[in-house]
Amino acid sequence: MRTPPKVELRAVHHRFLRPDGSVFTALDGVDLAVAPGTFVSLIGPSGCGKSTIFNAVAGLLTPSDGVVVIDGQDATGTIGRVGYMLQKDLLLPWRTVLDNIILGLEIRGASVSEARAYALPYLHRYGLGGFENAYPASLSGGMRQRAALLRTLLFDSEIVLLDEPFGALDAQTRGRMQEWLLQIWQDFRKTVIFVTHDVEEAVYLSDVIHVMAARPGRVVATLEVPLRRPRPRSLALTSEFSAIRERCLDLLGHGASAHAEEEA
Ligand SMILES: Nc1ncnc2c1ncn2[C@@H]1O[C@H](COP(=O)(O)OP(=O)(O)OP(=O)(O)O)[C@@H](O)[C@H]1O
Ligand SMILES: [Mg+2]
Repeated sequence: MRTPPKVELRAVHHRFLRPDGSVFTALDGVDLAVAPGTFVSLIGPSGCGKSTIFNAVAGLLTPSDGVVVIDGQDATGTIGRVGYMLQKDLLLPWRTVLDNIILGLEIRGASVSEARAYALPYLHRYGLGGFENAYPASLSGGMRQRAALLRTLLFDSEIVLLDEPFGALDAQTRGRMQEWLLQIWQDFRKTVIFVTHDVEEAVYLSDVIHVMAARPGRVVATLEVPLRRPRPRSLALTSEFSAIRERCLDLLGHGASAHAEEEA
């Protein structure tokens, strides 16, 4: 028996009206089903609609057609169902690390002192111990991302959307963050949907990869990643891993367009 999906997009189309009055089709019939507790990635060239999908799942955008279903219920245009780390998520510079991390809890109505007490052990457990009273400006890029991720993950929701969380980090920091994210995903048993431009990162992290194409934005392939967990780094050297990576790169047109670095 198949478990029902945690998140589903059914025939989602989205058209933007541009300032010159023309209509731009950003999503052209996207069907996606994400199983509970899985780690799923979306990869695709810049502009193929990855962030638009996230905005639709988060309820920040109501698609022109189609529905978003969460836990079997129509959640189209409904906010507050998912934790969402935006592509350019920033910590508030005037709040300490701890007070940034509790933002989601505060929004949910927790008192500041309760929220701080709840969050502090996590901060220690996930490598930010001793920095709780520091301000974001005094942290390294990797630590800032860690704090932003922790803020998203502590938000009391079973589904987490992460839009290129490691895009700006150097390779070494990025590797550490990937392992950290896998650990936290296993600890919290969340359903994670992850956007990246890095095919290797998608293969290393995911159970399933959805490959998208642009103009119009759509899903062109869905690949299972049947690699065992926990995943040692050396897995990237195996032929099994390479085969999945090569398949993704082929679907992306050898990855050339997938590495477009311009940020919208
Ligand atoms: N508010 C808007 N008005 C008009 N067009 C938009 C709007 N938001 C997004 N678009 C267009 O929709 C398309 C999809 O955008 P989206 O941000 O979802 O792409 P993406 O896959 O996340 O790209 P990237 O990898 O660069 O983040 C792009 O061509 C973008 O220019
Ligand atoms: Mg985007």
